Amino acid sequence: MTNILAISNQKGGVAKTTTCLSLGVCLAEMGKTVLLIDLDPQASLTLSLGLKPESLRHAVDVALLGNTQAEYYAARSLRQVIDLAKLVREKTNARLAYRVLVTMYDRRNKIYHVILEQMQASLSAVLFKTIIEVDTKLKESPAFGQPITLYTPNTRGAQQYREFARELMNDGRESQASA
Ligand SMILES: Nc1ncnc2c1ncn2[C@@H]1O[C@H](COP(=O)(O)OP(=O)(O)OP(=O)(O)O)[C@@H](O)[C@H]1O
Ligand SMILES: [Mg+2]
Repeated sequence: MTNILAISNQKGGVAKTTTCLSLGVCLAEMGKTVLLIDLDPQASLTLSLGLKPESLRHAVDVALLGNTQAEYYAARSLRQVIDLAKLVREKTNARLAYRVLVTMYDRRNKIYHVILEQMQASLSAVLFKTIIEVDTKLKESPAFGQPITLYTPNTRGAQQYREFARELMNDGRESQASA
């Protein structure tokens, strides 16, 4: 059984690439076969694995899920992504499913609590329980060409992305069982 996941948000810098890589390696750690597809001309995903984009004839790959940073602008752009997903489902792909992951959550900042509570109230059906918090190791690891699970395997970011991978796989199993 193959799942195709796309990680998307109109807003830049909300951890799409970081989630793609970290979720991909956590799924691989669980024994899944993962293909990462880097469609971004910036090639950040390729670089974060220690590969030189200019030395590759074809970009390396993934496809994953829908992703947001719990702050005001990100919450607004999330609404646009959800509207787009609904439109695609209506017009071209009735099987398209979307879920929302909160990333770069800063528990010391009150606005993050407020926005998270709003999201939990209005998006509970699609919101992942796992939340990815701010972790500077996630920022450092691409410079060393290593995913977080190799760079600092026990850091909070690595643990939370593992938890996310587990939640994703469990939800997939539950939805298949109820289908
Ligand atoms: N949980 C986190 N804690 C701290 N820093 C993070 C976290 N997640 C991502 N970052 C950092 O935030 C920055 C933006 O992340 P990333 O490049 O993954 O975002 P993006 O959505 O792919 O951006 P773009 O729109 O440019 O493609 C990067 O420097 C990344 O290392
Ligand atoms: Mg990116």
